[in-house]
Amino acid sequence: RNQPNSRLVEMHEYAAELYQHILLNAEQGEEALTYLEKRGFTREMIEKYRIGWALPEWHHLTRMLQRKGYTLDELAESGLAIRKEGEEAAFDRFRGRVMFPLMDENGKVIAFSGRILGTSKEEAKYLNSPESPIFKKSEVLYNIHRAKSAIRKTRRIVLFEGFMDVIAAGTAGVENAVATMGTSLTASHIREMKRFARDVTICFDGDNAGWEAAKKASVLLNDEQFNVEVAVLPGELDPDDYIREHGEETFRTQIIGKPHAFLAFIMMHARRHKNFQYENDLLQYIHEVLKLLSGRSSPIERDLYIKQLAQETGLSEDAILQQYRKTE
Ligand code: UTP
Ligand code: MN
Ligand code: MN
Ligand code: MN
Ligand code: MN
Repeated sequence: RNQPNSRLVEMHEYAAELYQHILLNAEQGEEALTYLEKRGFTREMIEKYRIGWALPEWHHLTRMLQRKGYTLDELAESGLAIRKEGEEAAFDRFRGRVMFPLMDENGKVIAFSGRILGTSKEEAKYLNSPESPIFKKSEVLYNIHRAKSAIRKTRRIVLFEGFMDVIAAGTAGVENAVATMGTSLTASHIREMKRFARDVTICFDGDNAGWEAAKKASVLLNDEQFNVEVAVLPGELDPDDYIREHGEETFRTQIIGKPHAFLAFIMMHARRHKNFQYENDLLQYIHEVLKLLSGRSSPIERDLYIKQLAQETGLSEDAILQQYRKTE
């Protein structure tokens, strides 16, 4: 690989070590350490995922990197520092944030996501590194370098919405876990995923945004010849919340262990917020499901879901089948 990129990786490796050192050994890291402990992070998890703390200062990392001989151009290119137009100075991008390193397939640090402690109205909860020669946000799957052997063994990827969920799932024994970095699933992510497995379990947050994102991701992956299953969380919980509330074992057996088939999930999604007392809701539901059935399903699936549609709506299978033939 070419020299400039390896220097960018070195800078990230150095930053990850510095951030972790501050979190674990410095007095200034105590508040962040307490925050993580309250969220259920053990020291072992912090070390495994190389989590750290960026001091709430403007020039801490920048000065350390400059002392090590990295130039202003390199600092700016890495995204770790921000250089103001035309000025001979730069400042730290990440300040006062819990730092989660993002690694490439070989486990090298290529970017960060930094979380504020608690909540804020002014600041985004997570701040990600900008795109750089070593970080393409639309391709990166969080945890892929750790998950890939488990993925090959189980022949399955479990896809989460957030990297906090990946970490919680890993601790609960679900090791074939990855997440995108807050973007919706792209063609590049799918291309990456295809290199490792063709079976996927989507396990997104139980809130509305999670349901919508799961619908989109499941359709894309199904279109790309993945065997898609969707594990659904009750209420508004996300996987991390669920594990803390119900325990690791229940998460493994009741959530990950009881996924819905793709079409069953699509039907659940279409049924959400609908009341079949209202004719419009009913017709819209039938229309949505038939549209998805057409072209995608085997005759057996078609039969199965048309039966289910009839049961749910109280209409005859015959009428639904006739409608289906019109949609085809
Ligand atoms: P969530 O809001 O579901 O985050 O966003 P989370 O994983 O539950 O985080 P906690 O538990 O509140 O700490 C899911 C993903 O969306 C991206 C992040 O990648 C996050 O993992 N995101 C979210 C951002 O990039 N920026 C934000 O401000 C919020
Ligand atoms: Mn969410
Ligand atoms: Mn979440
Ligand atoms: Mn969460
Ligand atoms: Mn957690």
